[in-house]
Amino acid sequence: MKFAAVCALCAFCIIPARAHETISTKLTWTREISRILYKHCGSCHKEGGPSFSLMSYEEARPWAKAIKEEVLERRMPPWSAVKGFGEFAHDEALSMEDLHLISDWVEGGAPQGDPKYLPDAPRYKDAPKPRLIQGRVVSGEYKLRSAMRVRAVRPEGLAEGGWLKAIAVLPDGRVEPLLWIYNYQQKWPRNYTFQDAIALPAGAAVQVAPAGAKLVLSSR
Ligand code: HEC
Repeated sequence: MKFAAVCALCAFCIIPARAHETISTKLTWTREISRILYKHCGSCHKEGGPSFSLMSYEEARPWAKAIKEEVLERRMPPWSAVKGFGEFAHDEALSMEDLHLISDWVEGGAPQGDPKYLPDAPRYKDAPKPRLIQGRVVSGEYKLRSAMRVRAVRPEGLAEGGWLKAIAVLPDGRVEPLLWIYNYQQKWPRNYTFQDAIALPAGAAVQVAPAGAKLVLSSR
């Protein structure tokens, strides 16, 4: 009884507020935003996926504010690596441009736009769970006795919300960024595979911070 009364109240408050929301952006779901979400979110946020669907305007609109917050905080999509630090294949993070588009669309009232621009709904194959790479586990400062081509790295045993920063200092003084993880989400362990393998000569020093943090280096 009480519940029903509260619901009725909500309906009265929310619906008029929505109807009066002014649209102050030219960005629309059908033209810009659906494409970004299809590409970066749909593998999980789809019907039957591990999380609620965001694949239609009707489904995504009520989440608009939350979408903006999650992407600006870089909690979604779960990727955890700082962009621009190391170059990875299958980088799933959003570009700065995408972040701006989403943010401006939400702030501008999250309009739907003309349905004729809506791209075809994507078809996703269920991604297999990633097999975590095995390799040399290093921490602190680790000097290579022989050359190594590093194809992929990943954190090992990192705490929820934890961070890790790893670089390689080459004998000539050059610094190669390897991986910078912040706000780690243990639910989403993964490999970070470099776009191009990183050639480390003998004598290169891999440095992993903070003290105790572990990094797996794989040459395969
Ligand atoms: C790898 C799977 C995956 C991808 C990719 C992904 N999400 Fe999520 N998302 C989840 C899961 C699972 C949850 C449920 C909350 C949790 O368990 O962390 C979630 C929760 C959310 C939430 C709700 C947060 C809250 O308020 O509780 C929003 C909003 C969201 N995701 C938006 C997005 C957007 C936008 C994208 C793409 C830019 C995206 N997600 C990509 C898996 C994913």
